[in-house]
Amino acid sequence: MKIILIGFMGAGKTSVAQLLSKKINLPYVEMDDLILKKSKKTTINKIFEKDGELRFRELEIAVSKDLANRENLIVSTGGGVVMNKINLDYLKKEGKICYLKTSFLKIRQRLEGDCSRPLFKDKKQAKKLFKFRQPLYEKYADIIIETNSKSITDVVNSLISYLS
Ligand code: S3P
Repeated sequence: MKIILIGFMGAGKTSVAQLLSKKINLPYVEMDDLILKKSKKTTINKIFEKDGELRFRELEIAVSKDLANRENLIVSTGGGVVMNKINLDYLKKEGKICYLKTSFLKIRQRLEGDCSRPLFKDKKQAKKLFKFRQPLYEKYADIIIETNSKSITDVVNSLISYLS
């Protein structure tokens, strides 16, 4: 089985992947880390600055393709994975797509002061992106978990009960 976590930046995909991995004893991968490895750059910001978003999206597709045939894995995706349907086509092979649904307000609070995300620097643009992507996350999800008022532990426990 493969569990794919999707959701906007700051939805908690990484924290959920880490705890879920411990609880169900499955390894997890962070797509951004695999993208960085392929890019030979040190930060996501540098990929965006030096090569542009389009190059980042190409690398994201290449990583999704690499993950297509992997099993027994938790995948923490980047928030923009839904921008190219082909990513989901690759990732969902033998997998369950779980959307961590969080409000923009909550995300803004969580990402206050964060400079690591190139697409969250301009808050107005980020909100537009959020609105555009929300229906896409819902469309691709097999499972939707509202996370606004839940702790990471609660989210992981809900996920486990959905999956079992
Ligand atoms: C992005 C989200 C980021 C990262 C990159 C682009 C996006 O991942 O992949 O900055 O387009 O939403 P997180 O969702 O882990 O922040």
